[in-house]
Amino acid sequence: MRRRGFLRTSGAGLAAAALVPLDARALESDVVDYTLIACPAGSAAQANAAICGLRGSSGPLGYNGLVPGPLLRVRAGQRVRVRYVNRTGEPTSVHWHGMIPPNAMDGAAGITQPPVENGGTFTYAFTPGPPGTRWYHDHASGTASMRGLFGMFVVEDPRDEAADAEFSVVLHDVPRLPSIDAAMRGRSNAPMIDPLDSPEMHAMHPGDRMGDEVSYVAHAINGASYPQGPPLRVRIGQRVRLRVLNANLTQTRYLRLAGHRLRVTHADGNPLASPVTVDVVRLGVAERYDVWFEVTRPGAWLLHTLTSDPLAFEQAVLICTPGMEHASPQTDAAVLDGAAVLTYAVGGLGLTETPFLERPAAIRKHYELDGGDYGSRRWTMNDQLWPRTEKILVSRGDDVVVRFTNNSDMEHPMHLHGHVFQLVEYNGRALRQPLAKDTTLVPANGGTVAWRFQATSPPGRWLLHCHNQIHMMDGMMTEVAYRH
Ligand code: C2O
Ligand code: CU
Repeated sequence: MRRRGFLRTSGAGLAAAALVPLDARALESDVVDYTLIACPAGSAAQANAAICGLRGSSGPLGYNGLVPGPLLRVRAGQRVRVRYVNRTGEPTSVHWHGMIPPNAMDGAAGITQPPVENGGTFTYAFTPGPPGTRWYHDHASGTASMRGLFGMFVVEDPRDEAADAEFSVVLHDVPRLPSIDAAMRGRSNAPMIDPLDSPEMHAMHPGDRMGDEVSYVAHAINGASYPQGPPLRVRIGQRVRLRVLNANLTQTRYLRLAGHRLRVTHADGNPLASPVTVDVVRLGVAERYDVWFEVTRPGAWLLHTLTSDPLAFEQAVLICTPGMEHASPQTDAAVLDGAAVLTYAVGGLGLTETPFLERPAAIRKHYELDGGDYGSRRWTMNDQLWPRTEKILVSRGDDVVVRFTNNSDMEHPMHLHGHVFQLVEYNGRALRQPLAKDTTLVPANGGTVAWRFQATSPPGRWLLHCHNQIHMMDGMMTEVAYRH
């Protein structure tokens, strides 16, 4: 796909980023109805069956023609009924990332439901929760999931402090599709673009042939690359909440707001034990953070990611006060040097010297993550590829501890469906305050992470996989299965 074409079309069908207060009628109804039509992107204005009926090619897709898809929103306790229509040209499904729905509504094609065939429909009905910043995306094995089928889903929590202004901020990058196939074969030549002093860069040895990275032709926030895309408009005196999602297929992102520090209140939509203030927020693939700042003066500031790729600097959006739309915006250096970065240790209020102590009765599982040799299609868990990977069998109420050791030279954003777990241990040391999450990065070259959760979700099969799309498709996936 041509980059210019992408920008033009996604600009034409931009989803609104501002979360205006829900009106009384929306708040009162017990059930909220949505229709999501997966179809070629850019046809938003005409998101109807006639236009979306085009047979799928390899172009960008969007829910209702939008990239990202429409912001779905309910207040905690409301049910949704989402009528899903597939007009992509291939089998698809919709997964509600970070939610705990009945297993049959989880949207894992081939596991919790048959894929929705092209032209078919499926109605997802459930009570979205737990409250917080969640998201939704395609979860079938075709290419559709890589072509733009994702969006944010906010479940409003009445216990949250009130914001004066609130925005969704979705980071995403447009892949060059042939590079996905090359990366799956371990033979891509796309470079890493992480900031120079990041752990991602340090994990690599000079001269390493990567082979596993996807190349991206456009870097966007809310579907547009800077300077396209409308600014986020704020006013002096406002306390502003940004709900940030990294919807990139493979890469970690570092986000900074020029001239401001960011107060972080939620990780993957779940409240932190106490908020922390940082300069830069680090988001692994699929992770979300809620960050706040105050507008104390007139101005125009760039909210932007940090990378070592000059092109990726277009992954930015302007935040400005009235009349400052055309002022030249304040930016910050695109390096991590000296910046306070949100890490799990910071979010967890520090690490203790000792590892997390599990209870003797716990169900324990340890996975060694490995693979990614040049020219190989293997990303393994205990040397096995999905579907032969070792499963975690649980009974209702079990206390479960899952540990990962990463022997490869790439980090892995491991994700568990249908649960919120506690991140209790990082590189062998316990977090003082465990972080409630659904996705965590396992650092490269021997890094370890431990999760703990109670098996209290609805019975069924819940996938556990690396959210790096290449690693997942190349085998790094297993499941937590309830006995009844
Ligand atoms: Cu975002 Cu299988 O998940
Ligand atoms: Cu991975």
